Amino acid sequence: MNRKYRKTIVAGNWKMHKTPAETKAFAERLKSSLPRVKRCSIVLCVPYVDIPAAVKLLKDSRVAVGAQNLHWAPNGAYTGEVSAEMLADLDVKYVIIGHSERRTLFGESDLIVNKKMHAALAAGLRPILCVGEDWDQRQLGVTLELIAYQLKAALAGVSPEDMRRVVIAYEPIWAIGTGNTATPEQAGEVCSAIRGMLRKLYGARIARSTTIQYGGSVNAANIEDLLDQEDVDGGLVGTASLDIAHFIEIIRSANQDGY
Ligand code: PGA
Repeated sequence: MNRKYRKTIVAGNWKMHKTPAETKAFAERLKSSLPRVKRCSIVLCVPYVDIPAAVKLLKDSRVAVGAQNLHWAPNGAYTGEVSAEMLADLDVKYVIIGHSERRTLFGESDLIVNKKMHAALAAGLRPILCVGEDWDQRQLGVTLELIAYQLKAALAGVSPEDMRRVVIAYEPIWAIGTGNTATPEQAGEVCSAIRGMLRKLYGARIARSTTIQYGGSVNAANIEDLLDQEDVDGGLVGTASLDIAHFIEIIRSANQDGY
């Protein structure tokens, strides 16, 4: 990470875990046992139904609440969906967009990802845009081409001004939920390449100040080595964010690293 130019962001992604009552208990503990974090921002992306409890309990703390998805339309006949404006109204600050589980299990195309980016930005939310290859793509040697494509498609029409609010998460699909973390070098290599792609799309200034997270089996034991990489500026943490002690450990390491 390079703290001179960009913020370190540790974000938990709970996926479909925890009830509102469990969220309340977690948030209370998180708030009371959070280290004095000055050097990293913390985000907790919870299921929709947990948002009110998380926002209420984490108010006046250094933890921002995020959602894991949204619909691209401002409103309309979309049974079961939730708009960016609805999230913003609940005081949600971040939203994960293009997670590989959404892309593969729910058929989200690059076009949908792009529409969601625009919806999130228009509502004042900060998108955490996920990109990443599967194992076959890595074996075939097309990782960087694929990610360049995913990035270009997701960011089509996003202005340099709005780009300041975008966080990128490099999440190799083969590393998600498998315990098979990418090596720090693998993560660093792709995150550097992503910064190079952003440079081409938006110029050096924006590329330098964009936070690029790594996600995929991040835990308290590997976060420090991952963050030692120049272009890895944080973590998107699934499984390990469900356990309060573990999550706090990760935050502590991210807050200290490099100093
Ligand atoms: P994991 O999930 O930490 O359980 O691998 C990461 C993610 O999918 O964001």
